[in-house]
Amino acid sequence: MNRNYIEDVKRMSVADRCALFTGASGSRTKEFEESGVRSICMTDGPNGIRGDVADCGTGHTKSLCYPSACLLACSFDRDILNTVGYYLGLDARSRGVDLVLGPAINLKRYPLCGRNFEYYSEDPCLTGELAGAFVAGIQRTTGACVKHFAVNNRENKRMSLNCIVDRCTLQETYLSSFARIVKKYRPDAIMTSYNKINGEYAGENRYSLKKVLRRDWQYDGLVISDWGAVNNIVDSIRCGLDLEMPVNDSNTEILKKSVYSGEFPEEELNAHTADLLRRLDGICGRRKDVRFDQEEAYNKLADIVAECSVLLKNEGKILPLKGKKRIGVFGELAIKPRIQGGGCANVQAYGAEDVFTAVRLRFQHCECEFSLGFAEGKNGKQAEKLVSDALAVAQNSDVCIVAMGLPESLESEGYDRKSLKVPGWQIRFLKALYQVNKNIVVMLYNGGMVCLDFEKYAKAVVECYLGGSATGAAAAKILSGDVPPAGRLAETAVRKAEDFSCCPYVAENPDVEIYGEGLFVGYKFYNSRNMKVIYPFGYGLHYGEVKYSEVEITDKKIRIHLVNTSDYDVKETVQIYVNFLDCSYARPGAELKEFRKVLVPKGGERYVEIALNSDCFEVYDYNTDSMTDYSGKAEISVRKNAREIIASRLLTIPGEKRKHYDRNTLIGELLKTPEGIEIIENKLKQYLIKAILGNFNADYLSMKNGRAIGHERFNSMMENMPLRALVNLSSGAFSNEMLNEVLEHLRESDVHG
Ligand code: BGC
Repeated sequence: MNRNYIEDVKRMSVADRCALFTGASGSRTKEFEESGVRSICMTDGPNGIRGDVADCGTGHTKSLCYPSACLLACSFDRDILNTVGYYLGLDARSRGVDLVLGPAINLKRYPLCGRNFEYYSEDPCLTGELAGAFVAGIQRTTGACVKHFAVNNRENKRMSLNCIVDRCTLQETYLSSFARIVKKYRPDAIMTSYNKINGEYAGENRYSLKKVLRRDWQYDGLVISDWGAVNNIVDSIRCGLDLEMPVNDSNTEILKKSVYSGEFPEEELNAHTADLLRRLDGICGRRKDVRFDQEEAYNKLADIVAECSVLLKNEGKILPLKGKKRIGVFGELAIKPRIQGGGCANVQAYGAEDVFTAVRLRFQHCECEFSLGFAEGKNGKQAEKLVSDALAVAQNSDVCIVAMGLPESLESEGYDRKSLKVPGWQIRFLKALYQVNKNIVVMLYNGGMVCLDFEKYAKAVVECYLGGSATGAAAAKILSGDVPPAGRLAETAVRKAEDFSCCPYVAENPDVEIYGEGLFVGYKFYNSRNMKVIYPFGYGLHYGEVKYSEVEITDKKIRIHLVNTSDYDVKETVQIYVNFLDCSYARPGAELKEFRKVLVPKGGERYVEIALNSDCFEVYDYNTDSMTDYSGKAEISVRKNAREIIASRLLTIPGEKRKHYDRNTLIGELLKTPEGIEIIENKLKQYLIKAILGNFNADYLSMKNGRAIGHERFNSMMENMPLRALVNLSSGAFSNEMLNEVLEHLRESDVHG
C-alpha cells in the first residue's frame, strides 16, 4: 500500500519535522521509530568504503581500495565502470551502507585542481556516460550519490569561491554530465557543492538547483548538501535541498523559528518533509542481503586497472617485456605504491601488493633487482649514494622499470597543486639513468595530469594513474602483456600550465573566478587554437594494432570495419566527434559525442555499428535557456583521438527547426530561406533602401535575389538590420501594420514550408 507521507508528517511535531532536515551524525540520517522514519547510512566513496567514519554497524574499518576515477575514465568503457560500481555497491551493501557518496563528476577544467584524481575527464560526454554506468553498477544493490553539483572545479577557496559562468557554458559544459546521469540512470541522490555559482551558493541556487535540476530535469531524488555547506537553510529547502549534512542543530532551531514566525509556512514544511521521507524510503527500499567476495573483486580489479592504463610511448616495442633476463626496478613508488588520493575519498586500504613484489613474482624466470635511486626528502650525500647504487644495478639490467609520479602530499582534497611538474629529483635520476642504460620503461603514478616532457628519456611510458589495491598486480600484468594496457587519455597532456585555457582567469586564492574561457575547455581549446600538446585527449597506444578499413557515416549511425593484423588482441576505442557548424554563437569545433570500446582479436576483424542518438545533437539555445535539439550543418568525424581524424562527413541534421520570426529578426535571417528572399524582393526592398540610404539615393541602387548589386557595404548593413528598423528608419513609409503583415506571412510559410 502506498504510504501517505503528508498524513504521516502531520502526526509528527514541528520540532521533529524540522530536525529531519539535518543528519544524526557524520554518516547517518535521523530515525523516528514511532513515526516510521528509518535512518539511512552513507559513506564515501568513491574509491572504497570509508569505514573509519561510517557507523553502519559492522565494525569494518578497512576496505579494498578501488581504482580512482582518473584511471577508470581512461577505459572509455561503460561496462568496466558498471563492473567497478557493482563491486563497490556490493561491498558497501554488505556492510549496511545505504548510500555511497560518489561518483564525483566535476569537470577537469583546471588540471591543477587538487581533487582531479577523483574526477573523470575534461569532457562532459565522457564524464556523464562513464559515471552514469558507475551509478548503474552501484545501484544494482545500494544507493549512489552523484557529487558535487556543480561547478566545483578547484579546491583552493572551494567553500566560498564565487564561480561566474555564462548560462550556455554552465549548461553545456558543467551541468550536462549531471543531466546525462539524472535522465538515464536516475541516481538516488545528488550532493550540492560548497561554492557559489553566479553569486548564489550551490545549495540554494535558484538557477542550477531549483530551475535546472528540480524543474527542467524533474529530478525527484534526494538532494543533500556537501558536509557543512549550507548557508541559509530556508532558502536551501525552498530551492530543492532535502538534507543538510552532517549534523547542524543550529539550523534546526532557525527552521523552527521560521515556521513559528510564519516566514516558512507549515504547509510548505509539510510538503518538503513528505518529499524527504519519500526519498529516504526509496533508498531504504533497496535493502537486501548480499554476499561480497573480496578476492573475486580484487582479481577482477587487477585486470581492469591494467586495461585502463594508458600506453603513451613504446619505442622499439620494448613492451611487453620479452626475452629479458635481468630486470632492474627503481623508485620509492615501486615499493610504497601510490594507490589513491587524499581527503574524504581516502580509505584504509587492505595491504596493497607493491609493484616490485608483483613484478618479481610474475618474472620468476628473470633476475629482478630493486634499487631506490631516489626518494622524497633525500638530499646531498644520501641522495648521491642512492643514485650511484641504482646506476650500478641499471648497468647490469636488460631493462629498467622506473616508478615515477606525484608524492601523496602533493595532491589532495582541500588544496590545489602548485605545479604541473613531477618533482625535480625524479627527473634528475631519470636523466642519470639514461646515461647508463637506454632501455627505460616509466610507470607513472599520479592523480592529476603532469607535464610529460621527461618522456624523451624513456623508451616506454605507461600512465597508470591511481589504481587502488590492485596497483602492483596490474603493473605485472601490463609489463608481461598478460593484460595489455588499452586506456585512452581522458584529459590532454599539455606542455605547460600556461597552456590551460582557464589560465588567464585563475588566481591562487581568489574570491571570484570568471570562467572566461567559456566552452573552450581542454581539447576543445587546444584544437581550436591548433596548439601543440604532448598527447591529445583520447590518445593511447596498444601492443598490437588495429586498422580502420571502412567507415560509413550518417547522422543516425556509424559503421566501421576494424582489422587486427597484429599478434595481440586489441581493445580499440572508437571515438565520434561532432562539429556544429550552424550555431548562432561561436563554438569550439569538434566535440566528443559517442565512443565505443571494441575487442578485435589478434589476426581478426570486426564490424561495429554505433547508433547516434539525440544526445549527440544537443546544444544550448539562448531563446529558451535550455538544451535543445540541433538542426543544421554538422561535421561528424570518426577519430583515433581528439587530433587524429580517420574519416569525416559533412551532413545536414534535419530537425523541426522553426524560425521564430518577430520584430527583431534580422534581414540576414530572412536571406537564409527562399520565402525570406521573396519577401525582401516583393515587399521590403524599397523600404530597406530608404532605411539604409535615405530618400535621395534610392534610385541608384538595384537589388536582385535580396542582394544589392555591386554594393557590398549596403549588403552588410542590411544583413545586420532588424525588421523593426524598417519602421524606425523609413520616415513612416513602412508602418507597424505592414510589418505585422510581413511577419504573419513569414510565419505561415514556415508552418507550411
Ligand atoms: C567532501 C565530499 C564528501 C564529504 C563527506 C566533503 O568534504 O567534499 O565529497 O562526500 O566531505 O565525507
